[in-house]
Amino acid sequence: MRTVTSYPHILHGCDYNPEQWLDRPDILAQDAELMKQAQINCVSLGIFAWSALEPAEGDYRLDWLAEIIDRLYANGIYTVLATPSGACPMWLAAKYPEVRRVHADRSREPAGGRHNHCYTSPVYREKVRAINEKLAERFASHPAVILWHVSNEIQGECHCPLCQDAFRGWLKEKYGSLDALNRAWWTAFWSNTYTEWEQIESPRGDCPIHGLALDWKRFCTAQTRSFFDAETAPLKAANPQIPVTTNFMGFYDGINYQELAKSLDVVSWDSYPAWHSMPDGDETYNAFWADAFSDMCRSMLGKPFLLMENTPSNTNWHDVCRPKTWGFHRLTAISNLAHGADSIQYFQWRQSRGCSEKFHGAVMTHANRTDTRVFQEVSDLGAALGRLDALCGARTDAHIAILYDIENHWAVNGAKGPRNTSIGDNDLMLRCYLPFWKAGYAVDFVNAETDFSGYHLLCVPMLYMLRADVAEKIRDYTKRGGTVLLTMHSGAVDENDLCFMGDTPAQGLAELAGIRFLEIDPLYEGQTETMHILKAPFPLAESYRLERLCERVAPAGAEILGVYDTGNPCMPDDLPCLTRNSFGRGTAYYLGGFAEDKFFSDFLISLAERLGVQPALDATFPHGVVAAERLGTDGTRFLFVMNWTREQKAVNLPYALRDYETGKIYQSKLPLSPYGAKILVKA
Ligand code: GAL
Repeated sequence: MRTVTSYPHILHGCDYNPEQWLDRPDILAQDAELMKQAQINCVSLGIFAWSALEPAEGDYRLDWLAEIIDRLYANGIYTVLATPSGACPMWLAAKYPEVRRVHADRSREPAGGRHNHCYTSPVYREKVRAINEKLAERFASHPAVILWHVSNEIQGECHCPLCQDAFRGWLKEKYGSLDALNRAWWTAFWSNTYTEWEQIESPRGDCPIHGLALDWKRFCTAQTRSFFDAETAPLKAANPQIPVTTNFMGFYDGINYQELAKSLDVVSWDSYPAWHSMPDGDETYNAFWADAFSDMCRSMLGKPFLLMENTPSNTNWHDVCRPKTWGFHRLTAISNLAHGADSIQYFQWRQSRGCSEKFHGAVMTHANRTDTRVFQEVSDLGAALGRLDALCGARTDAHIAILYDIENHWAVNGAKGPRNTSIGDNDLMLRCYLPFWKAGYAVDFVNAETDFSGYHLLCVPMLYMLRADVAEKIRDYTKRGGTVLLTMHSGAVDENDLCFMGDTPAQGLAELAGIRFLEIDPLYEGQTETMHILKAPFPLAESYRLERLCERVAPAGAEILGVYDTGNPCMPDDLPCLTRNSFGRGTAYYLGGFAEDKFFSDFLISLAERLGVQPALDATFPHGVVAAERLGTDGTRFLFVMNWTREQKAVNLPYALRDYETGKIYQSKLPLSPYGAKILVKA
C-alpha cells in the first residue's frame, strides 16, 4: 500500500529552510538546480517557518513560499508541506504568555526555542488553526503538494493552569466521580484521598500515586492527539486527499505513538543512531536498534512508513558527531528500505549559517560545492532510488509479533520495585527482536489492541500491566493454536496499576503458562544466576546466564524445561525457570529469568523454524550481515542484504540471486564489500 498516494516513487528529499535565505536570492536561485543534480524529488518546506509566514499577528506572507513551491515544481521537485507549529514566533510568545509551556516544576518556558508550546492553550490552538487554514487555502490544491508534515517531532508535556484544568476535565469524564477516582488510584494510601477535583494536579516528578502518574501520561497523549487533530482539521477540510504525517523520534516514551498514529495517514520517523561509535567499526548494534524502530513504525498502520529525516553525513548533537563514512550512507538507506521505508529524506538540504544547527551535516555545506563526497553519495543514491518504483508501497509479511505496549512500559518503569534502575522491559523486547533481525525474519510490533490471530508466534516480554482484555486475547490466540512466549514480571497489575489479588500472572495467564508466581528476585549489576536446561524441545545449550530479574514460580501443570542454579546453597535446585504448557491447540512458553542474548537466539530461532516461519533468505549469515524482504506491488520479491561491518563478507546462497540494480547473477555465493548492501531478486 502506497504511503503517499499521489506519488508512485520512492521519495528522496530533505528538510529545506529557504526562510533562512530570503535575503539571498542568489542562493535560493541555485537550489532547485542543485537539488536536481542531487536527484532530490521532494522537499519538506515550512518546518519552523512561522515567523516568516506570519511576521506579525494576522499579517500573512505566503508569497515567498508559493514562489519556492512553484519553482521547485517546475523542476520536478514535489513539496511535503509542513505546518509551522513546532516553533512559536517571538511576537506570539510575548503577547500571549499562556502559549509558553510550563514544566513539571511549574516554571514557564521563555520565548524562543522550539517544541515548547502548550497543547491546551486556546490562543495557541486558534493561532495554529488560522495559519494552517491560510496554508491550506493557498496550497492544498497545488499539484506539487503531496503530503502534510504536521508540526515536527511532537513531544513533551505542559503543566500550566490550562492543562491542569483540562486534565481534571479529562479525569471527570473518565471516572465520573471522585469516589471512583480515589478507588482507582488507591488514594487511602498516605492520606491522599481527594475531596475536591481542584486538589488534583499533574505529577511534579516522582509521584507516589501511580494511577495518577499513568493517567497524566494518558492525558498528555490524548491532549497531544486532540491538538494534532485540531491542527489537521483545516488541512483535511481543504483537501482530504493529501495524507498527513508527523515525524516520530525513535523509542521516545513521552507520549503513546501507537495512539497518535491513529490520527495519521502515514507514519514517519527521524533516524539518528550514533553511527561509528564502536571502536571496531561494527555497526550491528546501532543498525539493529534503528531497524527495530522502523519495524515498529511499519507495524503501527500496517503499511510502509517514511524515513522523514536522517543525516547525509553527521549530526551536531551526539556527544561526538562523526560523519557517515564512505559508502555508509547507501547502506543505511537500503536498510531503511528493507524494513519498510518508502522514502529516504534528510535533515537537511543546506547547512544554516548560524545558531544551533550550523554544523549539522547537510547535502549542501557552507562551502556551497557539489564536488563533495556527501553530495556525490546523495546523488548516486537518488539515482538508485529512481530505479526502484516497484518497491514503492511494497509490503512486509510478518508471522512473528512482539507485544510492545507503551502503557505497560510507563507502568513497569514507574512501579517502585522490584528494580528501580534498568528494569529492562525495552531491553527484553529488543532481546526478543535481535535474533529475528539477525536471521532475516520479519517481525511486527503489536500492542494490547492488535488482533494477534495472523501470527505464528507471539512474544510477550514483561507484560506487567494487563489492560482491557489483552489477557483474554492472548489466551484465545493460544487456544486456537498460537505459540506464545511469556516472561517474568507479567500480569501483576491492572490498567490502574493496582495489583491483582490472587494468583498471578493474573486474568488466566497463570493457567495459560501452567505456572504460579511465588516471588521475584532482582539482581544487582554484576550478579548473575544460571539457567540449566533439563529438557530441550529443540537444540539449546546446557545452560544460559541470567541477570537483572529472576522470578520464582511454582509449576502448575507446565512441563519444566529449565531450572535455576542460583549459586545459593540455601535455595532449592529445582525452581523452574523455563517451562512449556499446552493450552487448547497452542503452546505457552514461560521464561522466568532475564536471559542472555544467546538464549533468545537459540530458543526463538528454533521455535520459529519449528513453526514453519520462513526467513527472508534461508542461509547462515556471518556476523554483521543481515537480510530482510519486501513484496512489491507487482509481485517482485525484493531481498535486501546488508553488511554492517568493515570487513569483506560472503553469504552462501541456497539459490541463485540477481542484483536488482546491476543485473549481475550470483549463483552460489554473495560477496559483500565492507558496509556493502545489495538489493536482489531470485535469478
Ligand atoms: C531532528 C529535528 C530536526 C533537526 C534534526 C537534527 O530531531 O526534527 O529539526 O533538529 O533533529 O539532527
